[in-house]
Amino acid sequence: MSRTDAAVEHARLATEIAKHDLAYHQNDAPTISDGDYDALKRRLLEIERQYPTLAKGSPSQKVGAVASGKFAKVKHAVPMLSLDNAFSDEDVEAFLTQMKNFLGLPAQTELPVTAEPKIDGLSMSLRYEGRKLVQAATRGDGEEGELVTANVKTIKNIPHELPKSAPDVIEVRGEIYMSNSDFAELNEKLIQAGEKPLANPRNGAAGSLRQQDVSITASRPLKFFAYAWGEAPKLPADTQWGVVQAFKSWGLPVNPLMVLCQTGADLLSQYRKIEAQRATLGYDIDGVVYKLNDLALQRRLGFRTRSPRWAIAHKFSAVQAATVLEAIDIQVGRTGALTPVARLKPVTVGGVVVSNATLHNEDEIGRLGLQIGDTVIIERSGDVIPKVLRVKEQGSHRRAFRMPKECPQCGGRIVREEGEAASRCINVNCPARLKESVRHFASRGVMNIDGLGDALIDQLVDSGLVKNVADLYEIAAQDLEKLERMGPKSAANVIRNIDRSRFLPMPRVISALGIRFVGERTAELLAEHFGTIGKLAAASVEELQTAQEVGPRVAEAIYTFFREPRNEQLIERLHRAGLSFEYTVREKKEGPLAGLTFVITGTLPTMTREEAKSRIEAAGGKVAAAVTRKTSFLVAGEEAGSKLDKAKALKVPVIGEDELAKMMFRIK
Ligand code: IVH
Repeated sequence: MSRTDAAVEHARLATEIAKHDLAYHQNDAPTISDGDYDALKRRLLEIERQYPTLAKGSPSQKVGAVASGKFAKVKHAVPMLSLDNAFSDEDVEAFLTQMKNFLGLPAQTELPVTAEPKIDGLSMSLRYEGRKLVQAATRGDGEEGELVTANVKTIKNIPHELPKSAPDVIEVRGEIYMSNSDFAELNEKLIQAGEKPLANPRNGAAGSLRQQDVSITASRPLKFFAYAWGEAPKLPADTQWGVVQAFKSWGLPVNPLMVLCQTGADLLSQYRKIEAQRATLGYDIDGVVYKLNDLALQRRLGFRTRSPRWAIAHKFSAVQAATVLEAIDIQVGRTGALTPVARLKPVTVGGVVVSNATLHNEDEIGRLGLQIGDTVIIERSGDVIPKVLRVKEQGSHRRAFRMPKECPQCGGRIVREEGEAASRCINVNCPARLKESVRHFASRGVMNIDGLGDALIDQLVDSGLVKNVADLYEIAAQDLEKLERMGPKSAANVIRNIDRSRFLPMPRVISALGIRFVGERTAELLAEHFGTIGKLAAASVEELQTAQEVGPRVAEAIYTFFREPRNEQLIERLHRAGLSFEYTVREKKEGPLAGLTFVITGTLPTMTREEAKSRIEAAGGKVAAAVTRKTSFLVAGEEAGSKLDKAKALKVPVIGEDELAKMMFRIK
């Protein structure tokens, strides 16, 4: 690229990025997805690497996000969790089956479950004490939110006081949203006042709420639906349905489309009913939430790290749009796989501007008959990267795409093995592969290392400071300070965030490894099943398949990963760095069983072993696989075998399910 071309493109990118920064940080109104924003940033830095003088005054000089810092933080008494997603009828079936399996109920049992719209707004926790609204907090990271009490008090359908029938203390949770017509009207006003319109009702609601000047919030038409609760020492009912009905009787707004379904078939038909009304509801929804009705069963099922086992969000399928395929770029992934990425003429799909879509691989491009310059139909569903569905119209100057013969990043040889869809860069030291691994490792939802963004990762890899992800834990602040655009303060910040990541629970570590097919959810299921990374690494392909949702393909990928000597070394170093290699569900230092270690054997009368384990852990105890002198109790059911003999030999007390239940409830 010539210097002039570079300068022109750089200026265009810089203006665009500055605009998005403003939209995101100041106005709570992003107009592009995080992925598209990162792509703009990456391109900017690429140009700056070639022509370093362009970096002066560029948005690349700003380090990380400016924290809003506008509101005081508050820790949630009960964490605000998210929901697992279902995308098909089969996923919903699997959700019901998993609950039954966990509870040890026969497969033909029908569990009553509620169904209600999933409101596309922002979640809110309202705390009532002495029946008065005393605190309102946003979800934040789930553990800690922002205090927005004064702002929330301006929302007309939120009562400031609950009637006598309500308990003294309760945290009501729900969604704040803006209706489509209110949103359109507000945008009209903003435009007339010469201000920037908002991207969609959800951003409209979030932006309107998080205003320092409460009178601005008061002037915005926000509404609320109550659908859940946090801390609630005295609940008004023992079912999901009953509690929401009580909310309604106290004057809290609840969604009129919520129903109680008796069978799985009812759930799916309710989903279709709600989906059919979606366009005419007057507010945005993006799916249907199912919740097990019986609260006692909800309690038994408990939680995974980030979501309850007793609820799921059944997402609506996608929205589509037509646009022009302007180019096809190649991305090199962590496994060396080359992914063709469609660069599109930006187009709005369901409120989000899309300018990239994945094309998966060469065959997919062939299957679609796709050429550069064609007008294509793209589809976006939920937060998934959009995909190209088909060619709508061939371009007049269309141009065929060819997979490169050399890696666009390192010049390494590209190989496509027989039976494989992907072409791969076979250079194991390809910097692009390493950068992708580090990027994945540090990303949100994985090791969550704030401040370790693309620009820094590039520098760390290019300078040789990071040759694999374990090196991150050995970087010193002085090393970072030597890098471009790294002051002592930001260096210290990054180091602190790296250090903090050591304490994240084991499922994060598993997903951070970047094993093929192992995402957040599989990582969590593997952690629950195997308990330690050592056991996971030692498991055979057959043993791996005994874990939930692990089929032969995934098992093979995990097995192969742990047999690779480079990976073995990596694991060893991450272990030494102090990352979590053991898993106890929501490890608690308190609770009636704190300090006690249990081993479970045989068939218990009412609980599955999985449930007993989860409940012991929820009560602060630990569950081990083998009986040793350190075992506090052996919980034995019918047909207990060698573990029972061992416990007797070691004089470990043996108890049954009844006694375990008594111990768990003693203090509760
Ligand atoms: S229940 C423990 N019900 O979806 C489960 N959430 O993906 C608590 N949401 O953070 C959530 N409508 O902001 C629930 N009817 C509904 C919902 C709903 C929207 C949001 C909520 C939550 C997110 C989870």
